Amino acid sequence: MFGNLNSFRIVHQINAFCKKYRKHQKNYKVILCVPSTLIYYFSNKIKSKFVSIGGQNCHRSNKFGSFTGSITAGMLKNAGAKYVILGHSENRFEGDTEQEIKKKIETSVKEKLNIIFCIGETAKEKKKGKTFAVLKKQLINSIYKSNSISKIIIAYEPRWSIGTGKIPKITELTKIFSFIKKELKKIFKTKKSISVLYGGSVNDKNINMFTSISNLDGFLIGGSSQSSKKFIDIIKNYYK
Ligand code: PGA
Repeated sequence: MFGNLNSFRIVHQINAFCKKYRKHQKNYKVILCVPSTLIYYFSNKIKSKFVSIGGQNCHRSNKFGSFTGSITAGMLKNAGAKYVILGHSENRFEGDTEQEIKKKIETSVKEKLNIIFCIGETAKEKKKGKTFAVLKKQLINSIYKSNSISKIIIAYEPRWSIGTGKIPKITELTKIFSFIKKELKKIFKTKKSISVLYGGSVNDKNINMFTSISNLDGFLIGGSSQSSKKFIDIIKNYYK
């Protein structure tokens, strides 16, 4: 279960989540992708093997240089992050190209970070029946293959679903997850299955509908991870 805590959380809110999570659920892996300013503090503070800390983006270059305000994969690693979200639609919206995302994946792989690589179609692309073509293009154009197979997790996040309350049908999701897994096997020339998460408007009420999907490996939760109660309820309801 991955929480993309966007830019919302501040220290005391994450502390509150950790305190509550310790009481309620101990055995499910939770990754908190926190704002960069909190990575060092929480990666030192959290001792549970079930809770890991990640970042939310990184710069395409891993060299020190004139990149004012940017955080590199090496800096994330140095601060204690184990994961990084890359290719999030909000960053694509702000100008991240497929080539740039590939460079970010490459620098993150070299730093031995685990990568949550987000892909997903827009509402317009879905309407035109282009979902599968778009996902294939995003995978092929951005995946950096060398040494990355054990480091990559895909998060399927349809752009029209993020923060909107809209969710694809279960039948559609089942087809999309097996398509992504099949494409990844082709890209990496492997029989090994790579984990695929779903992200987009998941909450404590609708989480139950996902339990029937057998080829789904977890979730990337945005809005609902901002409330400790909602986030813990999602975990409780899914794994009950
Ligand atoms: P959402 O966002 O859960 O708020 O739809 C998902 C995300 O930001 O990754």
